Amino acid sequence: MPKVIAIDGPSGAGKSTISKLIAEKLGFQFLDTGALYRAAALHLTRKGIKPESSDNEIINALKDVVIALNGEKVFLNGGDVSEAVRTTEAGHYASIFSAKKAVRDFLLQVQRDAARYNDIVAEGRDMTTVVFPDASKKFYLDASVEVRARRRYLQLKEKGMEITMDEALRDVMERDERDSKRDISPLRKADDAVYINTTGLTLNDAIKRVLREMP
Ligand code: DC
Repeated sequence: MPKVIAIDGPSGAGKSTISKLIAEKLGFQFLDTGALYRAAALHLTRKGIKPESSDNEIINALKDVVIALNGEKVFLNGGDVSEAVRTTEAGHYASIFSAKKAVRDFLLQVQRDAARYNDIVAEGRDMTTVVFPDASKKFYLDASVEVRARRRYLQLKEKGMEITMDEALRDVMERDERDSKRDISPLRKADDAVYINTTGLTLNDAIKRVLREMP
């Protein structure tokens, strides 16, 4: 049975960076489920689907769509959308469409399939609670909203994207609200997840902290 390390937390808590490095250290595959939600949202917006569209319209639009991850690369129906999914707009729509049952149902199997043959480190919002409730180890990573907004701001700036600190803060706050208040699979800490606050931690310290909990 492949092993799953499941990591949840809000936007900007350091999940992706930490999960990627932990996966490398352990020789596991890294599953960035936010990238799957971003690609699904990109597909839906390209198909003209609106946040107010019906579940049936969404189900139809998702028929035959193939979303695949290969290392850092994200593919939508064979096309490389790695850059397109990283914009704040893509994150915004991912947060909106991820509240839809049709989207979550569609991606549930994609995520579980990733763990069928490989040991994985999976990060997202419901890895510990819904997708991999039997994960061998669970973590909830958190950080203050200011620190998370600053990380998001620096990440996007580094990629050459236009964003102000105020916009980053607003984006993180809006996403916190939407991701944790939605009806289906809201972001919450699983009872058996280890809580780690990365606010005052360097990346190295955070990694050490996670590795210390490993069986
Ligand atoms: O982690 P991220 O910023 O790339 O995720 C983008 C959005 O996708 C996030 O705001 C909520 C949604 N998401 C989700 O609902 N469940 C997941 N497992 C991962 C992401």
